Amino acid sequence: MATEPGTSPTLRWPELVWSGDVGPLECVGVRDESHDVKTFLLKSVEPAIFRYDPGQFITLTCEIGGVSVSRCYTLSSTPTRPDRAAITAKRHPGGVVSRHLHETLKPGSRLDATGPSGAFSLVRSTARKVALFAGGSGITPMMSMSRYIDDLALDLDVVFVQSARTPADLLFRRELDAMAARRAGFEVRYACDRPDVERTWAGITGYLSLDLLGRVLPDLLEREVYCCGPAPYMGNVRAILSELAFDMARYHEESFQIEEPPSTPPQMESATDDVPYFAIEFANAGKTIRAKSTDTILTAARAAGIPLPSSCKRGLCGTCKTLKLSGDVEMNHLGGIRKSDIDKGFILACCSRPLSDLKLR
Ligand code: FES
Repeated sequence: MATEPGTSPTLRWPELVWSGDVGPLECVGVRDESHDVKTFLLKSVEPAIFRYDPGQFITLTCEIGGVSVSRCYTLSSTPTRPDRAAITAKRHPGGVVSRHLHETLKPGSRLDATGPSGAFSLVRSTARKVALFAGGSGITPMMSMSRYIDDLALDLDVVFVQSARTPADLLFRRELDAMAARRAGFEVRYACDRPDVERTWAGITGYLSLDLLGRVLPDLLEREVYCCGPAPYMGNVRAILSELAFDMARYHEESFQIEEPPSTPPQMESATDDVPYFAIEFANAGKTIRAKSTDTILTAARAAGIPLPSSCKRGLCGTCKTLKLSGDVEMNHLGGIRKSDIDKGFILACCSRPLSDLKLR
């Protein structure tokens, strides 16, 4: 950019705040976090800063094999450093998008994204004592919150419990240990199901249990609890809290799981059911189903055994975005799709109901 005579170039942050409508993101760095986890550092291609709550996510859309696929990734970075954002992704063996990111995303690569979105963040709470439970990849929102607390030197009493299969699967250990060393009121506990590979393992061994948490987190009932991880992990934490008669109004969880369709048979039409039905053709799957006008397309597809990716099921994350080739829908989304995508014919299957026969890609 040319500089006016008599002035020097500035390194001021741009005034524009990034959202999906501002334009794509560019990868500016890749860091190995473990044997199967990488952090991707991102900037806005248009000069813009990032503004989000620690714990929020963005939705990436990638072209993979000629098909556009969307997935949510919580930002692992902190909004206190607004010029860059980061996602941390584990390479899942069957994960189409995570494999694509690990294999192709390099400095200079561009990514289509929407967001930031989501309500999972401690910024909405006034609690002074907090417990963060992270299982596996569920560590990303907890890292964002911890970095935020650390950068702003917030006066919070935090206990961070990270669970992983083995010590080699623990993430950000050095950074968390450094935070715990320099901050009064920030403690970290590590729990591994199989710590045997590390002979000097001094952390917790085995799954979290009532007895174990009673020993390592005796004041759990006094804390606001944030939990993120695989469904069984969060179910276990919830079960422990319920045994403790914990006030679940102070429990918050987040999970992005790409769900497989259940093996339940398709719903049959009832003779007394006077709700209109429409035909929905899934062109790629080569299947046509009948769906009630009151059912979302996602519900109808899953009931018929057609796999559609989904996550939030509330029109928020964009994971279920699909192209409508013909027909009309009623879509009530919560910001998970851009106007420009709607104009191109995309819909969110989780919050769209048929108003006519439909053909989807
Ligand atoms: S599943 Fe999140 S927008 Fe549809």
